[in-house]
Amino acid sequence: MSVQKQVRRITAPEITARKGGEPIVSLTSYHAHTAQIADKYVDFLLVGDSLGMVMHGFESTVPVTLELMIMHGKAVVRGAERALVVVDMPFGSYEESPSVAFRNAAKIMKETDCGAVKLEGGKHMAETISYLANRGIPVMAHIGLTPQSINTIGGFKTQGRKKDQWAAIEEDAQAVAEAGAFAVVLEAMAEPLAARITKAVPIPTIGIGASVECDGQILVMEDMMGLSPRVPKFVKEFGKVGKAIERAIKLYSEDVRDRSFPANEHTYDVKD
Ligand code: KIV
Repeated sequence: MSVQKQVRRITAPEITARKGGEPIVSLTSYHAHTAQIADKYVDFLLVGDSLGMVMHGFESTVPVTLELMIMHGKAVVRGAERALVVVDMPFGSYEESPSVAFRNAAKIMKETDCGAVKLEGGKHMAETISYLANRGIPVMAHIGLTPQSINTIGGFKTQGRKKDQWAAIEEDAQAVAEAGAFAVVLEAMAEPLAARITKAVPIPTIGIGASVECDGQILVMEDMMGLSPRVPKFVKEFGKVGKAIERAIKLYSEDVRDRSFPANEHTYDVKD
């Protein structure tokens, strides 16, 4: 008899089935506590390799390791009960060959218990996506701006601003869909191109700096909460968490300095 907890998590096929329906809500999460808070409101949580920049202070996502992704992936799976958890495959863990990608994706899934992985790339990654999808690994693709390629792209640039760039990006979208990706992230992409791709492909598009026409949206949680010092133009701040944290720390430091903390109600008396 199974002793598992009877919690029904959203699955990758359920995300695919949302194509053209109610918009899919998603956010990044890197820790158990933010995952627990977001779990009620989102359909999936992405343990994005953006954690390298947001949490660990790297200049790009390139230095992020498999071990780091697995550590944060485990925390998010522990925190969320309902949302599908997708873990990013970091740079260098999947590009070499489909079999290397399978070994590393399987390691991520076994060690974190997440429900899917994400990898960056279009046409050139189609063979790998198909190899993984045919072997039990749901894959979310990621096209448009692919931050792991920052050193060849030369910067975090919006994609498809010139119409002569559209065909290649549309081919990427079709290729990942045909290869069996269950959804595709469209990052930093000219709005009309993202809308066209959304109409053309049979899998959900998840926009980040793309179009309201996408089948769903994702943002980096720290950016939308107002916790990141610099955010891209497409981010709307839905909170002012950075300011709230600073205010609380300032008040605490003032209380400690003028000896008003800990006051009696926060101290322990001797028991008789
Ligand atoms: O790493 C990440 O957070 C991502 C999202 C921006 C889609 O890939």
